[in-house]
Amino acid sequence: MFGKIISYEIDSNKINIKFEDKIGSIEIITPDIINIFSSFRYEDHFSRAIEDLKTIECNFDIKRENDYLEVVTDKLIVKIYDNFKVDFYNKDLELLCGDYRGERKPLVRCEYNLASIEDHKVEESTDELNIQVIKKLKGDEKFYGLGDKTGYLNKRGYEYEMWNTDEPMPHVESFKALYKSIPFFIALTENNTFGIFFDNNFKTHFDMGKENEEYYYFGSNDGNLDYYFINGNNMMDVVGGYTYLTGKTPLPQMWTLGYQQSRWSYYPESRVKEIAEGFRKNDIPCDVIHLDIDYMEKYKVFTWDKEKFSDPNKFLSDFKDDGFKVVTIIDPGVKKEKGYDIYEEGMRNRYFATDKDGITYVNKVWPGDAVYPDFSNSKARTWWAENQKIMMDAGVSGIWNDMNEPASFNGPLPDDVQFNNEGRGGDHTEIHNIYGHLMSKATYEGIKKITNKRPFVITRACYAGSQKYSTVWTGDNQSFWEHLRMSIPMLCNLGLSGFSFSGVDVGGFSADCTKELLSRWVQVGCFSTLFRNHSSMPTRDQEPWAFDEQTLNINRKYIKLRYKLIPYLYDTLWQGETTGLPVMRPLVLHYSNDKNVHEINDEFLFGENILVSPVVEQGKRTKEVYLPNGVWIDYWTKEEIIGGKSILREAPLDLCPMYIKKGSIIPNYPEQRYIGDKQIKELTFDVYPGEAEYIHYVDDGETFEYKDGKYNLYQFNMTENEDKLNIEIKTPYLEYENKYDTFKIILNNLDINKVKFNNMDVEYKENNKSIQVIIPAIQGILSIKKK
Ligand code: GLC
Repeated sequence: MFGKIISYEIDSNKINIKFEDKIGSIEIITPDIINIFSSFRYEDHFSRAIEDLKTIECNFDIKRENDYLEVVTDKLIVKIYDNFKVDFYNKDLELLCGDYRGERKPLVRCEYNLASIEDHKVEESTDELNIQVIKKLKGDEKFYGLGDKTGYLNKRGYEYEMWNTDEPMPHVESFKALYKSIPFFIALTENNTFGIFFDNNFKTHFDMGKENEEYYYFGSNDGNLDYYFINGNNMMDVVGGYTYLTGKTPLPQMWTLGYQQSRWSYYPESRVKEIAEGFRKNDIPCDVIHLDIDYMEKYKVFTWDKEKFSDPNKFLSDFKDDGFKVVTIIDPGVKKEKGYDIYEEGMRNRYFATDKDGITYVNKVWPGDAVYPDFSNSKARTWWAENQKIMMDAGVSGIWNDMNEPASFNGPLPDDVQFNNEGRGGDHTEIHNIYGHLMSKATYEGIKKITNKRPFVITRACYAGSQKYSTVWTGDNQSFWEHLRMSIPMLCNLGLSGFSFSGVDVGGFSADCTKELLSRWVQVGCFSTLFRNHSSMPTRDQEPWAFDEQTLNINRKYIKLRYKLIPYLYDTLWQGETTGLPVMRPLVLHYSNDKNVHEINDEFLFGENILVSPVVEQGKRTKEVYLPNGVWIDYWTKEEIIGGKSILREAPLDLCPMYIKKGSIIPNYPEQRYIGDKQIKELTFDVYPGEAEYIHYVDDGETFEYKDGKYNLYQFNMTENEDKLNIEIKTPYLEYENKYDTFKIILNNLDINKVKFNNMDVEYKENNKSIQVIIPAIQGILSIKKK
């Protein structure tokens, strides 16, 4: 397609290469990130994922060899051959990622021929894609990422499509697509790791070595050839590189980390109050109740059904005083109804998508005939953003964007539905995958402007980069054990794909949950950033108290555990705003040198220090837990276990196996009914002796003032030898007015003689296997003399 290399020219960080038949370019974004581009539709990237391509000025050399061009950065050697074949090497000249030179060899299958009642072999369709990048498989590659795809953590051997899909059938591992399109994956081989982000928002295909063992490929029939090769010393670097391009999950308001209760639907007002009282009565912390579509009048967005909620402002304000926030659902489909102001305004201003003749396009969603806001029109986005004021003024605290694939009940939107596409014009094939992304962006920007607080937006459909604007959940799962199991690799892969704030419907959306399933699900949900129990209209009740005393107790235990761990979770999210690392992490992210973790689907890390190995099978009361190298402490018994092996852990129904890495400092909150219930003047640190460095971060938990420097940092350096444990506490930055008075330090598994803080003896309490000391929240050295 490209032909032979004719010449090249350098344009700052970019090398434009003239091939016989086409132009291609290589751009050095950073020494580790290289962009490969050729214009098929647009002259520029026209990216929706990367809003600010931060190209770093850096040194590179280029030379022409016999049959290739060689570009050398501080980290990589890139060789470009005829036909725009590109190979990436590290500085030791080890091939990291090479283009495959042969033809694609489609799968051969056996088909039953009814006419002859004989088997015969047929070749699968060999459809070549207009834009297609085929990469060599070395053999041992494992692939991770790709967003919310079903199935297992490792995507090797499967094929996927990026086409946002609302599929009501139970999600199974053979699905090629679900609600989200994140065309990014990480490849892990014996010696290397790298990522590829194919920034193309048309329908794209990814074959991760299914068609053939010799190669994997990705491509599309439209858009540009535009992909980024992201080099890294490890998987964490690659996630860092990918989120450097597409953005990090921002620090949310702290209450969004509390427990959230939802159902399709809680109404009227009295029922919502009853649910809220259920939490208080049963001594279960809760921060948020969600209102699903029935709060609206005839499913008209930005309206209230006054029969169900007669005075939303009063209701929401009283509710807030009691410590509950309300999040409301908003779908994109605007009811086609004369006299309905949102519809009329949108029509007047031509904010809706049209058919090819310019007539407003109509399909059916919840309100019946509905029209689709054109979020690719910046004016329509501003209008949508301003409409958030209606909800914010009523006292709503967050917006849940649903059905934005976009979903439609009267057949899919035809390909030729027309959109503004930022003034360029474009049809549904181009806008489909970014529709949810742009809706979330509009929602985020609106809420930010109106409230000046960190917006809480949840979306079902999205594209790469939506993490900057929205939290995600994995859509309509079912109350199946299989879906509990699958939630772990799905959330881990979403995390590797930049989405740190994500979750699933705890307990399952469709079908009836059982008490055992809910008991185990809350043990996983409590470690996902978005912790929301949600269920569908006709299903049985699924609130923590909907079953029996035992189920209620288990829910209470894990929801309380979650609240205890919120400062640790908040610290992890704060770090993630710099590193891009997610909260829920597959073990392979930190222990990729250990082959035993490459395919672990039923275990994960919560931040770096807590390993969670939940039971995800009905009836099981033991769990095989793999602990990577190092020393791990059983959270419940404080038993120390040497890692690098599997162990069998007793796991009665109320116990989720959890292990803390030796050398951990985990901040804990006291019991609260909701975030902000108490002013926390004494912070507890749960310490697992060893070597550790930890930074605890504090700000107001809701505004953007932290960006202007209003925050506090508490730094801990722990060192240990045979007879001493030292914890040096520093306060390198204290610019936020609310400061702690004291720290309660719990030292686990220590037999001690003496505790001193800044050379003064301090009293301590012994409690079972732990020691407790309370010290002022100031700089100093806590030194503990062991027995
Ligand atoms: C969709 C959503 C689900 C919601 C329902 C009704 O199925 O995925 O969460 O409850 O619509 O709004």
